[in-house]
Amino acid sequence: MTLPEATEPLGIGVLVSGRGSNLQALIAAEIAVVAVASNVAGVAALERAVAVGIPTGVFPLQDYADRDERDAAMAEWLSSFGVGLVVCAGYMHLLRPVFLTRFPGRVVNVHPALLPAFPGATAVEDALAAGVTETGATVHLVDEGIDTGAVLRQEAVPVLPGDTVETLHARIQLVEHRLLPEVVWELFAR
Ligand code: GRF
Repeated sequence: MTLPEATEPLGIGVLVSGRGSNLQALIAAEIAVVAVASNVAGVAALERAVAVGIPTGVFPLQDYADRDERDAAMAEWLSSFGVGLVVCAGYMHLLRPVFLTRFPGRVVNVHPALLPAFPGATAVEDALAAGVTETGATVHLVDEGIDTGAVLRQEAVPVLPGDTVETLHARIQLVEHRLLPEVVWELFAR
């Protein structure tokens, strides 16, 4: 996959909604994250950013007239830190075109399944319910759809007898925590 040439150094911004273990993996891999934005206040991911001195912003939908207005504000805030690449790391809202056009071809997401299989917010549950013997982790470009953007990298993870959502998700996350920093590092951060 050929990505648009960067014309200037790219700051990396991360979008989160929850636990932030993928954000932690990026930080541990020495990916230079310059700003972290969340749609939810008080989540652990924000605490992880604060702990290492990364500026944080909270953009709850209820503070704005609609999603377009919220996403425009979030894009503007990220841009003010020089962000040119956005990593969705457990960010649970779809991004509106007003956001995506600000960072063309430069918004990536990590998803806990082998896309196009099991898109959406219940990918691990859905893989278990389907009885597959293999699922995985995918890093992909973000478009307006639900996990429909071009796949950049993916890796399979076995589903083992007796797996629960928790045990399977934990096994997938081990892969995510390696794959996401690798892709960000290789494609964007050099
Ligand atoms: C990850 O499994 C990711 O694939 C999915 O949401 C989860 C976020 O986990 N989109 P965390 O917040 O990074 O711990």
